[in-house]
Amino acid sequence: MGEALRNMYTVAPKIEQPKNNTKKEIYPEVDALIAENPKLQEAVKLILEECDKYTVGHVFRTANISLTLSEYLGLDEKNQKIFLQAALLHDIGKTEDEINELIKKEGKPSEEEFEIIKKHVRGSVEYAKEIGMPVEVLQIIGAHHEENNGQSYPRNEKNRTLHDETLPERRSEPDEEIKKIIHAFAIIDAFDALSSERSYKKEFSDQDCKEKLVDKFPSEEDARIIDLLFYEK
Ligand SMILES: [Fe+2]
Ligand SMILES: [Fe+2]
Repeated sequence: MGEALRNMYTVAPKIEQPKNNTKKEIYPEVDALIAENPKLQEAVKLILEECDKYTVGHVFRTANISLTLSEYLGLDEKNQKIFLQAALLHDIGKTEDEINELIKKEGKPSEEEFEIIKKHVRGSVEYAKEIGMPVEVLQIIGAHHEENNGQSYPRNEKNRTLHDETLPERRSEPDEEIKKIIHAFAIIDAFDALSSERSYKKEFSDQDCKEKLVDKFPSEEDARIIDLLFYEK
């Protein structure tokens, strides 16, 4: 791996993820995955160089949590890799200039601005596709802002549907293991956003965070994943 990239983050042993941690720390397994693919290295470098502190921390934290959860979910090596690749790339669409500027702006985005920010999902799917990521990675990224309560995007439907002829990554129904990852990743993404402080909101307490997650993801299988996130060792 290029020294330049290695100097941009720290490889930390697996430790409890401190909430709202803006340090650029990743677990050794995530580092190893980046090291084996020059295109993924380039993507991580782009995120580190272009994104604001919160987004960089968020991407690294969600990758670390994905690794931890993939062990709880009993994923095989192939699916664990897919999970991590999706986590690292899920918000790369935010490096697109117009979106990036809005993300870096202080304060809560207006409704109009939020409509533009939403487009990062498409941008992330396209980037991942361009660098040759498997369709499963695109499926996970494409659904990372979908919830079951009808306040999500891009589909905004009650009971999210993962099959959609109009979206290239969703022309086929994901297999059961990938569905598990799609559910887990959408929850991890929301969990990290809720438990982080932003310029326009405080971080939520564990209890509030859990309540909000249960509201967004009310199904029984999602409840199991939410419990894993709040599991006390
Ligand atoms: Fe996102
Ligand atoms: Fe995200």
